[in-house]
Amino acid sequence: MGNLPFSHLPVLLDETLALWPQQEGWYLDCTVGGGGHAAAWLTRCPQARLLAIDRDDEALTAARQRLAEFGDRVEFWHGNFADFEPGDRRFWGIMADLGVSSPQLDRPERGFSFQQDGPLDMRMDRSQPLTAADLVNTWDETDLANLIYRYGEERYSRAIARRLVGHRPFADTQTLAQNIAAAVPPAYRRGRLHPATRTFQALRLAVNQELESLTRWLHRVADWLQPGGTVAAISFHSLEDRLVKHTLRDHPHLTVLTKKPLMASPDEQKSNPRARSAKLRGPVAKLRSHRFSPEPSPISR
Ligand SMILES: C[S@@+](CC[C@H](N)C(=O)[O-])C[C@H]1O[C@@H](n2cnc3c(N)ncnc32)[C@H](O)[C@@H]1O
Repeated sequence: MGNLPFSHLPVLLDETLALWPQQEGWYLDCTVGGGGHAAAWLTRCPQARLLAIDRDDEALTAARQRLAEFGDRVEFWHGNFADFEPGDRRFWGIMADLGVSSPQLDRPERGFSFQQDGPLDMRMDRSQPLTAADLVNTWDETDLANLIYRYGEERYSRAIARRLVGHRPFADTQTLAQNIAAAVPPAYRRGRLHPATRTFQALRLAVNQELESLTRWLHRVADWLQPGGTVAAISFHSLEDRLVKHTLRDHPHLTVLTKKPLMASPDEQKSNPRARSAKLRGPVAKLRSHRFSPEPSPISR
């Protein structure tokens, strides 16, 4: 883990927790990270118990330390939230604060950022074999271009893919970023966003199968709720936000409580730049009327 403290400022903290009913029983934080939202909830609702999930072992270690003071009110589960099985347990509040944490971005050895040099890794769960280097160094040009276009919404996807295929193999983040910059027109290089931003987003989403996991989670999560419980999701880019908005809006057992997404206040945006793109969404949803069987059979769905 290096010597850096695991420091992540939770975004939209009060706005998210205000959506959960204060009940005695279980709550589910699907992306516990450093435990910021989780600690605040356990303090605010003394009768609550919380199950904390993360697919990053480093995050889970940090969360265990941070939440130790709450003793057996907290349980942990390491894995992808899309694969979680609740058994008979049902939750009053469920949240997902999507994407990567500040420590994941800030630690060069994790390979998420082009701001510092590191291995081309980008895995949230380091027990999975596939890394960003595998994608960049083995996919054919058309597949890479399509990936960068679809997951990065990058208009120079074809030029970037051509350049990468012509200059690989790549092993580190900065050489990759420099080659992406060299593939785009000079005016684009001088734009507000670093020219590698969108390609890095695309690679990260693909390595971690983030949109596929989110889709599966959105389709399953209503079955994990207590009747009257709420789900909240915080997204950080339009691909996530669209998925959350449409899937929960169309869900037969959920009522969306907020039509417009909640955004961070100007003060929060000033003190935490990550909060600028955060949207707390219509995934803010509530069970309409739901008859629970502990594990609904495929036939009754
Ligand atoms: C933005 S951080 C969460 C920060 C947390 N709310 C806090 O207050 O410290 C997102 C976390 O979600 C985890 N994560 C992202 N996608 C996941 C998934 N599909 N399953 C489990 N964990 C995931 C990441 O590893 C990361 O630690």
